[in-house]
Amino acid sequence: KSIVILVSGRGSNMQAIVEAAIPGAHIAAVVSNRPDAGGLVFAAEHGIATAVVDHKAYPDRTAFDGALAECIDRHAPDLIVLAGFMRVLTDDFVSRYEGRLINIHPSLLPSFPGLHTHRRALEAGVRVHGATVHFVTPTLDCGPIIVQAVVPVLPGDDEASLSARVLVQEHRIYPQAVRWFVEGRLSVDEAGHVFLRDAG
Ligand code: GRF
Repeated sequence: KSIVILVSGRGSNMQAIVEAAIPGAHIAAVVSNRPDAGGLVFAAEHGIATAVVDHKAYPDRTAFDGALAECIDRHAPDLIVLAGFMRVLTDDFVSRYEGRLINIHPSLLPSFPGLHTHRRALEAGVRVHGATVHFVTPTLDCGPIIVQAVVPVLPGDDEASLSARVLVQEHRIYPQAVRWFVEGRLSVDEAGHVFLRDAG
């Protein structure tokens, strides 16, 4: 299966997926909306094709998403992986890739969709926090949940310590979700729930 990974920053989740060397997965390209994304360096060093579609070069989201889709489609991927990709995508873009577009979000959805999840978890006083890999649907951070990981919130935690604890789990569950997708084991039922088939 051919995979395009979209990043905006350091790309540690992308790195975890690349390093997992998932059998049957070919990382066709890493695409960033920011020319200075650290993730691009790692990808290039690993012989992966890279591309930049700079959102600042486009007048609006529709134009940007059009250019992004064009860039992605050049690689005809089976799966598009959002890995710290910090742009909200248009409904048209999301529909085009429905069922083959996944995201990781640093909270236990449906708690804390959107930004600053670790700060908001600390403010809310929750005792557990975590990360979620989900299929992307037009409503932000709302699609069918593939896998979640839970971490404790510990006394004395700040945003840095909590996000670091969550990130360790992100690096575990994102490659896992990609592996399941590549193995063809994921489906979504009428209720919008993900079903994981047994390994064949
Ligand atoms: C991760 O915490 C991801 O869940 C969030 O942004 C962060 C990206 O980190 N959406 P990286 O670029 O994968 O290192």
